[in-house]
Amino acid sequence: MGKKHETPLLDELKKGKWISFVREMERAAEKSERTEDLLGQVEESYRDKITHWKHGGMAGVRGYGAGMVGRFSEFPEKYPGVKECHSIRLNQTSGFFYNSDVLRKLADIADQHAGGLFNFHGSTGDIQILGLTQADAEDLFQKSAELGFDLGGSGSDLRTPSCCVGPARCEFANYDTLQICYDLTHAFQDELHRPSFNYKFKMKFSGCANDCVAAASRSDLAFIGTWQDNIKINQGEVKNYVKKFNVQKYVLDKCPTKCMWFEGENLVIDDSNCVKCMHCINEMPKALKSGDQKGLSILIGAKAPLVTGPRMGMMLIPFYDVHEDSKNDYEWLKGLISNMWEFWDEYGVSRERIGELIARVGLVTFLEGIGLEPTIDMVREPRSNPFIKFEDEEAGAE
Ligand code: HEM
Ligand code: SF4
Ligand code: SF4
Repeated sequence: MGKKHETPLLDELKKGKWISFVREMERAAEKSERTEDLLGQVEESYRDKITHWKHGGMAGVRGYGAGMVGRFSEFPEKYPGVKECHSIRLNQTSGFFYNSDVLRKLADIADQHAGGLFNFHGSTGDIQILGLTQADAEDLFQKSAELGFDLGGSGSDLRTPSCCVGPARCEFANYDTLQICYDLTHAFQDELHRPSFNYKFKMKFSGCANDCVAAASRSDLAFIGTWQDNIKINQGEVKNYVKKFNVQKYVLDKCPTKCMWFEGENLVIDDSNCVKCMHCINEMPKALKSGDQKGLSILIGAKAPLVTGPRMGMMLIPFYDVHEDSKNDYEWLKGLISNMWEFWDEYGVSRERIGELIARVGLVTFLEGIGLEPTIDMVREPRSNPFIKFEDEEAGAE
């Protein structure tokens, strides 16, 4: 089949071992004029070294304020197929587990109503279907809904929550990441579909400190599995590892708190000094397992650079008994999240992430606002400057 647009620069990217996105786009273009034009416009961007999408753009479906990203071509006459080239976010399944039947049906929908192209997945987690016009949006949305997929988030709302594969496939999981991700997504559907915040708000769930969804750096509220009691040691398996590699050098000497040692042939861990970093468990998964008192830590405030610099999440709740609270449908957690949103709504300024708000008003003010006491776990070190604010009565004022 003849190509509609010559793409000499993109053709270079069909060489080499890695899967070529150009080849994938060409396959989609065989069935879609839109994607043919998309290839043309992308080639032009490669030549000019500049984007050819217009600024911003609005698109959406009825009843929802979020879920689609509108995009318009700078050259609608030259590339009519991408005059409108919106993308739609579909809320992925927890942990990205699908069956092929559902994926085939989604592919049919994308072929029929869009450019046949997906992003599996967006960095937040959503399935993204690329290359829609506003006229397609409603049909595509209804057909996806029949398959069981609702829209994901966008704009100043609760974005699509996402989780690691957790207990479905991983023996390190300290809680059911898939279940809580699903439950909270359902609990906060309104906040997800109809933006009412100062800015975006993301939640991510990792089953342990390995943090396979990078919750600590990519979500305003990060949930990271941990345990409170002792690491379980299978001494027989430890001995097997000792035969295989230098356990002293690669495990004990690398423990960040140096809380492990051998007594004779037996491995000993001083759990009171273990910071649950996961290193020893990662190295010797058959010998070591996390304790029985499992739960998670909650970190707050991670964000990308804009406006006041990048942040990773800081410790808010060292140990949250997720298993206990789940019996109550996460009533305590939902209350805490609502308190945060209320405080952010009251004191945050437009386009201020919650991490920036906390930095501006101070952690103590934030904690008071949401009803938590400050604890030593919340700081890496105490302040080094003496500019301490006292409440009037504490300072002894009349
Ligand atoms: C017109 C403007 C923007 C567009 C079209 C856009 C588009 C996107 C898209 C398509 C994703 C993936 C979403 C998903 O996976 O569901 C994304 C994620 C993201 N966006 Fe934007 N974005 C815009 C503005 C911004 C701005 C201004 C910031 C920062 C202040 C930002 C920060 C991020 C971050 C950090 C992620 C990744 C989140 C994660 O890793 O989970 N974006 N954006
Ligand atoms: S974060 Fe931990 S529990 Fe989740 S998949 Fe990674 S290693 Fe497993
Ligand atoms: S989890 Fe980390 S801190 Fe704890 S004993 Fe293992 S290596 Fe040391």
